[in-house]
Amino acid sequence: MKLLVTRLSQEAQDVLGLELRAQDGAALPPFTSGAHVDLLLPGDIRRQYSLANSPLERHRYVLGVGLAPASRGGSAFVHQRLAVGDVLEVGAPRALFGIDPAATEHVFVAGGIGITPILSMILWCEAHARPWKLLYCVRTRARAAYAWTLARHHDRVQLHVDQEAAGTPPDLAGWLAGAAPGAHVYCCGPEGLMNAVGAAAGVVGIDKAATHFERFAPPEQATPAASAGAFTVVLHRSGQRIEVAPRQSLLDALEDANVSVPFSCREGMCRSCEVPLLEGEAEHRDFVLSDEERDSHTCILPCVSRARSAVLVLDL
Ligand code: FES
Repeated sequence: MKLLVTRLSQEAQDVLGLELRAQDGAALPPFTSGAHVDLLLPGDIRRQYSLANSPLERHRYVLGVGLAPASRGGSAFVHQRLAVGDVLEVGAPRALFGIDPAATEHVFVAGGIGITPILSMILWCEAHARPWKLLYCVRTRARAAYAWTLARHHDRVQLHVDQEAAGTPPDLAGWLAGAAPGAHVYCCGPEGLMNAVGAAAGVVGIDKAATHFERFAPPEQATPAASAGAFTVVLHRSGQRIEVAPRQSLLDALEDANVSVPFSCREGMCRSCEVPLLEGEAEHRDFVLSDEERDSHTCILPCVSRARSAVLVLDL
């Protein structure tokens, strides 16, 4: 879609709000809370940003874009060059993170710009009169985006400001221990916070299936995609055999053989390159498949994942 930038707003220090609408004012494709869209920026840069507005809204998408400290051009372009009236290429909304409507309570933990998808989820809870609470962790108050929107829910929102806590981390176990039986926990933020929330949820006995995480980037210790042995893929529909070299990703090997597979992040984060796996055992290196999906070996994300067996048969 080519969408018009209709509003830019400074939501906090280094956080820019971006409103996008159809050029003809038409309704936009629907989305679910927690979904994200790809922005295609100059220089062939593709970046994913979560939608921050209510999923009930069809006339606009609202994004919150944090200025990455070491921006490779994506967030720096949005912050420094984008203007109201510009037209941006935007992908259709995709959902990897979202509300479980069956939960008895929705317990949110946001870190920094991780508030963006969580704000949309809170708006969903408000629209459906579902119980929720938020622990919002920021480095300084000046960096607390959407604080003005959340202020009217002060009884449900707890703000943890690193600068004011003198190095004391938030009491995550205490926060989660207060959740209602049957509550679900949703966390979006830096890797350290997500790891701590996962650990705290385990300590207080929250089922892993009731915890949901949204990553911005692969974990720092992630294994590089192309760092393992060679293997063979067989394309079931054509019978074509493709050799994947040790320092080559499966996606690169498919592209080199002129087999087109959609992709976005190429980091195992977005699921857009997912391919059905018919035979063989995958070595999953992505960050989005569930444990059940990994164990079933029925799909693979070829941008990062490889083979444990000598041959993989793909439904391509
Ligand atoms: S391209 Fe994003 S997971 Fe493969």
